[in-house]
Amino acid sequence: MGMTNSPTAAPAPPAGRATRSTGPANGPVDPSRWIRTYHDRPSATARLVCFPHAGGAANAFVALSAALPEDIELLAVQYPGRQDRRAEPCAEEIGELAAGVAGALASRSDLPVFLLGHSMGALVAFETARLLEERGPVARLFVSAARPPAQDWEEPDLTGVGDEELVAGLRRLGGIPEPLLRDPEILGEVLRLLRADHRALLRYRCADGAAVAAPLTVLLAASDPKNSLEQMADWARHGRNGHTLVTLSGGHFSLVERPGETGPLLTHCVRQDLARLAAAPPAAEPQAPAAPAEEPLADLVREILLGGLEGRTPALPTDPTALEDAARAVMSPEGFAYVAGTAGSGATGRANRAAFDRHRLVPRMLRGTRRADTSVTLFGQRLPVPVLLAPLAAQQVAHPEGESATARAAAAAGVPLVLSTFASRTLEEVAEQAGDHPRWFQLYLPSDRAVGESLVRRAEAAGYTAVVVTVDATHLGFRPAELDSGYSPFLRGTGIANFTGDPAFLAGLPAGADATAAVLRWAQISTDPTLTWADLAWLRGLTRLPLLVKGILHPDDARLALEHGADGVVVSTHGGRQLDGSVSALDALPAVRAAVGPDVPVLMDSGIRTGSDVVKALALGADAVLYGRPYVYGLGLGGRGGVEHVLRCLLTDLGLALALTGCARLADVGPHLLAGTTSDTPGHGPAENGDRR
Ligand SMILES: Cc1cc2nc3c(=O)[nH]c(=O)nc-3n(C[C@H](O)[C@H](O)[C@H](O)COP(=O)(O)O)c2cc1C
Repeated sequence: MGMTNSPTAAPAPPAGRATRSTGPANGPVDPSRWIRTYHDRPSATARLVCFPHAGGAANAFVALSAALPEDIELLAVQYPGRQDRRAEPCAEEIGELAAGVAGALASRSDLPVFLLGHSMGALVAFETARLLEERGPVARLFVSAARPPAQDWEEPDLTGVGDEELVAGLRRLGGIPEPLLRDPEILGEVLRLLRADHRALLRYRCADGAAVAAPLTVLLAASDPKNSLEQMADWARHGRNGHTLVTLSGGHFSLVERPGETGPLLTHCVRQDLARLAAAPPAAEPQAPAAPAEEPLADLVREILLGGLEGRTPALPTDPTALEDAARAVMSPEGFAYVAGTAGSGATGRANRAAFDRHRLVPRMLRGTRRADTSVTLFGQRLPVPVLLAPLAAQQVAHPEGESATARAAAAAGVPLVLSTFASRTLEEVAEQAGDHPRWFQLYLPSDRAVGESLVRRAEAAGYTAVVVTVDATHLGFRPAELDSGYSPFLRGTGIANFTGDPAFLAGLPAGADATAAVLRWAQISTDPTLTWADLAWLRGLTRLPLLVKGILHPDDARLALEHGADGVVVSTHGGRQLDGSVSALDALPAVRAAVGPDVPVLMDSGIRTGSDVVKALALGADAVLYGRPYVYGLGLGGRGGVEHVLRCLLTDLGLALALTGCARLADVGPHLLAGTTSDTPGHGPAENGDRR
């Protein structure tokens, strides 16, 4: 094995300012030996502790420290044996380094602690996190340019390797300016440290099943010659609460060489975590499932109003517009633009909402409706509510835990979810988080059919119980907000998780292909602009799972979908993100229902924001709805707790809307509830027993 993951040393001093010793904090460890700060941050609300690479020193992080804002203080770790600790022997073991840092941090527990390890430093940070978690939580662990701990970290013994070979390795990896490599004194020091740190790496063995509770963010530079995308997947085994992969531009040393890119990225992640920690009320994080959906009214309204008596108000807004505004304030501008953006002039987006506003409910009184039975049966599956989470791609733009947090929240709130092909977590990871909770898989049929088949097989194996094939996005809509920020999460590696670990996808990549190559292949094959109805028939032949076609607006297309093997349709404008100026989804719904008849499941989305919206959609012929953007705003604001809050609000509102219209069950909902119709007979709402097939 070649020299991996470690060579180089930071450029020469400054060695940084040792932080004042606060006296022995945890045993004999003196913090001033281990920690350097380069910029005072008296108003910091978080600390980012940075661990250098093999051969490196604390001052590798000077530029990154400068790139961080006032609210984040960077603490750089100084390993023994270098710079101002040169007189001390280098550590023999990674664990020795971790113990030293953990001890030094004992006196710094007043602010949330984030750890960031680069290359070898990632192992030290990982082991430090494990030690710190014995005392309390670590807010997040970032690991950069590093293979997962249980992978082959056995480094060659560099004692026998000649200087020239080592220097060639250093040049390949970059990170040390050429003039420094030519300075015999500096080079001698770099090589000495490199050999010493390699000895510690040589001895490192990851304990079986070692994992941290802290959420993990894995940073991988697109042109890192030492680490590949495939290797990164194993970090999942080391984070009990999931891991996120973020692709950086540049090479092995991007983290420290491109502070203009990495500083804002880290700031965004840290601030999101802080907002999540602050927003999540203590009750929002319990592992036990939240209160069942049967009686949301009693739960949420009572809970909030009783809390008000004690001076508490909800941590997140209950109003959908206020929620969107709050999300705008915490999400990155480009992430928010991606989620909120619509196509063209936004006409379809506005039409979607206008259609809901145009329809008015005419409630019936004194029907003794205590609470409605909201369950519905679709394809033989009993769903607790007629609401599923719409497939929204790349949810890591909103929160580092992305779809994993969403899946846990969906399970807790009792709302089934539809996972996007373009999720930022693999469908298997999401299935694990969802447990027994109902889940469907949304499929974008890739132009490489082998990849399409593989995705379907994996979804079947992971317990997804329906396939929703989306047909309205074979071309990407013209979305000014995204275009103006020049932002595509996918081209930055977010939202392609289902591909990068897929055997059929990897088979199309040359061995050792880097992250950029994976993104490029994804861009080539992930959708297929040549799709026709014949392809739907092909898909029908591939799986026995119920098949829905999403993106239908014309009644004839609904008929064609059924003729080519679909079991149901989703009337949708893709949230107004595709064809600008199209008919709204709600306006298209009645004709689609009429075209497919009363027995075929019809779902709808695009514009659902309130419980009354759900009732209106059901009254116009939907069996269930998909709920979109609001839950991702909740995710951005509060991670899992935020999604759960948003879902509880919607279900509470739905329960109230049903009770206030006098409906005891979904079968009572029909067009008679809408102004302009006079009949008192339920029409094309769900069948009497709420059952479709
Ligand atoms: C950020 C974002 C990503 C989306 N990604 C997908 C996707 O991957 N697959 C899909 O079928 N629909 C996708 N959609 C469309 C949604 O499934 C749904 O149709 C839409 O969000 C409904 O509109 P609403 O959110 O305004 O209610 C996406 C929508 C948004 C806003």
